[in-house]
Amino acid sequence: MHRTAENIYMNIPVLRQIRELDPYVPGLSVQEIRERYGLSQVVKLASNENPLGASPRVLEAIARHAAYAFRYPQGGNPRLVEALARRHGVDADTVAVGNGSDEIIDLLIRMLAEPGRHSIVCCRPCFGLYPIQARIAGVEARRVPLKEDFSFDLPGLLCSVDKDTRLVFLTTPDNPSGYCPPLLEVAAFAKFLAQYHPKAVLVVDEAYVDFADDERASSLLAAKFIPENAVFMRTFSKSYGMAGMRLGYAVMPRELASCFWRMRLPFSVNILAEEAGLAALEDDDFRRATLETVREGRRQLTDGLRRLGCTVWNSAANFLLFRLPGDASAKACFEDLLQRGVIIRTLAGYELPEHLRVSVGTARENAIFLDALSGFLAETTH
Ligand SMILES: Cc1ncc(COP(=O)(O)O)c(C=O)c1O
Repeated sequence: MHRTAENIYMNIPVLRQIRELDPYVPGLSVQEIRERYGLSQVVKLASNENPLGASPRVLEAIARHAAYAFRYPQGGNPRLVEALARRHGVDADTVAVGNGSDEIIDLLIRMLAEPGRHSIVCCRPCFGLYPIQARIAGVEARRVPLKEDFSFDLPGLLCSVDKDTRLVFLTTPDNPSGYCPPLLEVAAFAKFLAQYHPKAVLVVDEAYVDFADDERASSLLAAKFIPENAVFMRTFSKSYGMAGMRLGYAVMPRELASCFWRMRLPFSVNILAEEAGLAALEDDDFRRATLETVREGRRQLTDGLRRLGCTVWNSAANFLLFRLPGDASAKACFEDLLQRGVIIRTLAGYELPEHLRVSVGTARENAIFLDALSGFLAETTH
């Protein structure tokens, strides 16, 4: 029998906001596409993962600690918290770690916003999890359109905040555009927010900020300018190459961090993720190589896409937003590339059906993608 949402839930009183939810749609996996098209080689440039894979030191740490799989992790992940506090020059009691930044986003919303009463404010489009987790929590998500060039409408965001807003999300650099606002604009925004809406917390999601050409000039956390009303989120999924281990962290006001630890499930960061995170923080060579590969690959892809007639937005992240030339269809392109063994990302879920997003891969993967795209364009425009 075909199970529609309606007949699955007919007799079970699942909350309406869950029944009606449009869930987060992740990028397709290599395995799926290999099986679907009988391909031996597939290049995945869809989920902004690390082009160099995982650090050898991380792999070694995971193997070394595999035998401890039967143990619970130490409550509160104190070694990892200390290491992160040292890395950012902040006090350990302001650091929180979670099962990916996804868990931190979810907990922040549930910790601060009361269902049916409070709101969060974010951009439209933005990383899908902010509005999705708000919806699950029964909290209104107010969306403020980005400007035409994908920069932030900061006055518009401020106008959407009211006395019942508890969180404002900014992604720097932004997903899916790669736009990174000037540091001083974010600092001024935090100041205005604190002045006019002292109950609202600013969440700056810096998942991709270390890929910027100059991290210090792009991140308030790196510049050690931490407004009192701000939370800074980072992740091990991108530049540390650990998306599958699920590890994210945040630097937040002490009072909030203490409530975070009360609320977080006791063992949501497992032993292997914790050990892998500690090893990743030690491996400066791998991280340096990652950042070089991404910055160089970003140039290679930007040039290549422009040469093919695409419109490409400047990106400070490990992905690029682009539009095809003429009236070539983004959906047709995405499907054609799948058959050629290249997975990129359509953006219908971001309400950008004519745009595409490609993650920066290795030089070889970038070349394979550009070649496949060139093949698609040659076939559709002739
Ligand atoms: C802007 C942004 N924030 C957070 C995340 C989630 O990161 P994590 O893997 O740490 O849950 C992503 C993942 O793609 C993202 O794009």
